Amino acid sequence: MYIVFASSECTPWAKTGGLADVVGALPEALAKLGHTVSVFLPYYRQVAKLVPDAAVVLPSLTIPFPSYNRFARILDGGVKGGVQHYFVDSPELFDRESFYGTPSGDYADNPERFGLFSKAVIEATKVLGVPDVFHVHDWQAAMIAVLLRSTYFFDPVFRRVPVVLTIHNAGYQGWFPPRTMETLLLPWDMFTFTKLEQNDTLNFLKGGIVYADALTTVSRRYAEEIQTSEFGNGLEDVLRQRSGDLFGILNGVDYDEWNPATDSHIAAHYTAEKLEGKKECRRDLLHAFGLQAVTDETAVIGVVSRFATQKGFDFIIEIMDRLVQEDMVLVILGNGEEYYERLLSDMAARYPDKVRVQVKYDNVVAHKIEAGSDMFLMPSRYEPCGLNQIYSLKYGTVPVVRATGGLEDTIDEQPLGGGNGFKFWGYNAWDLMDALVRALETFKNKDEWTRMMRRGMAQDFSWDKPAHEYVRVYERVIQNRS
Ligand code: ADP
Ligand code: GLC
Repeated sequence: MYIVFASSECTPWAKTGGLADVVGALPEALAKLGHTVSVFLPYYRQVAKLVPDAAVVLPSLTIPFPSYNRFARILDGGVKGGVQHYFVDSPELFDRESFYGTPSGDYADNPERFGLFSKAVIEATKVLGVPDVFHVHDWQAAMIAVLLRSTYFFDPVFRRVPVVLTIHNAGYQGWFPPRTMETLLLPWDMFTFTKLEQNDTLNFLKGGIVYADALTTVSRRYAEEIQTSEFGNGLEDVLRQRSGDLFGILNGVDYDEWNPATDSHIAAHYTAEKLEGKKECRRDLLHAFGLQAVTDETAVIGVVSRFATQKGFDFIIEIMDRLVQEDMVLVILGNGEEYYERLLSDMAARYPDKVRVQVKYDNVVAHKIEAGSDMFLMPSRYEPCGLNQIYSLKYGTVPVVRATGGLEDTIDEQPLGGGNGFKFWGYNAWDLMDALVRALETFKNKDEWTRMMRRGMAQDFSWDKPAHEYVRVYERVIQNRS
């Protein structure tokens, strides 16, 4: 079958988080199963820097806006892992410093940017090949589902083409002022609570949820959670209405990229059988963070994360004065909201021997933390899937997590240390502290700790199984529409 992916992120060209990893890897896994897959991605400035001379595939698609047209080009991103990549080029919308906005806020014309992207993908497929199914990701591409079932309704080529929408994070929905309906040439009668409207805004993700043929999200647990008021962010009712078409499929991970036996970014290679290299990675990590005289008895706790409320940094900050009394050092890599950048940097200044923070996006340092830490900390308030805890398992870096979403589905704590990590349920910092104390106690028993590391390293979260699950969803929606 022919599947067209549309996404605002995709490794190795454009990444702020796990969405990019998923859209970078799942298509390749589908291609391995014998399917044909294309991926469409905006030609951001960062993409243009990496692929400056991408060949022009379609020189000009006309995308109408009120009282003017925009013209998008389709560029050839090349074939990677058997998957054709296309870039949607519209310099006035995508040749910008960042993907979504600046530290002072999102770009005001984001609905126009991702509206154009969605329309360009639809128009491009009419020339390059109409897929058997569209697979669109998050609010940025959700409009494809809305458009196909509204303003494209009478286009005969799309009548039988279903859309699968994957919700990677229901916390980001794309809320825009009502006049956006006109900007995107959408009929006003769709601006109702049962369709696109939510609290007097146009909600892109809601539109996708209403109009997609099937919905998926990135863990079984999160599929349940988003149907509750605690996690649905106002979309719980519409999600409950569609629960028969909502599937939780746990993300896989790309072991070509994240594997201590082959990782080109780390100081030494190691496996579950031969763990010696991990010691070298630990030394290299401590050196990279300027920490000296850390003995083998001191636990190295790592964090790699977007700095966002979702990720539970408030919990870490709240327990910091207590945590530093333990025999541990904490190394944090992340960037994002200025509030957390400042608070965490303050913590590092207060406890320079114990806490180090690097405020930046750096893939190499991310790999060094996975390999060189003893524990990986992820106390998320909510976590649709979470990839870092799964990477950590492969690197023998024991995860300490809050039991929510994909963290709940992947990390298992057993009373006698039989699991693969440590987790806490409460929505408070002291439950996190308790979990860390349990982890630090277990760490003192080297044999038990090594057994736990090896259990995690032996687990397989590759894309093979989830790719089959997606194929079943595609088959179902294709059949329902034929
Ligand atoms: P989310 O998508 O919510 O940010 P995930 O755990 O699914 O969370 O994925 C995060 C991905 O982004 C991982 O691949 C992680 O290594 C990467 N990442 C996050 N922050 C940084 C950073 N500051 N530098 C490098 N990589 C980062
Ligand atoms: C989102 C979620 C994260 C998930 C990722 C990939 O950014 O926050 O939990 O792993 O998407 O699906």
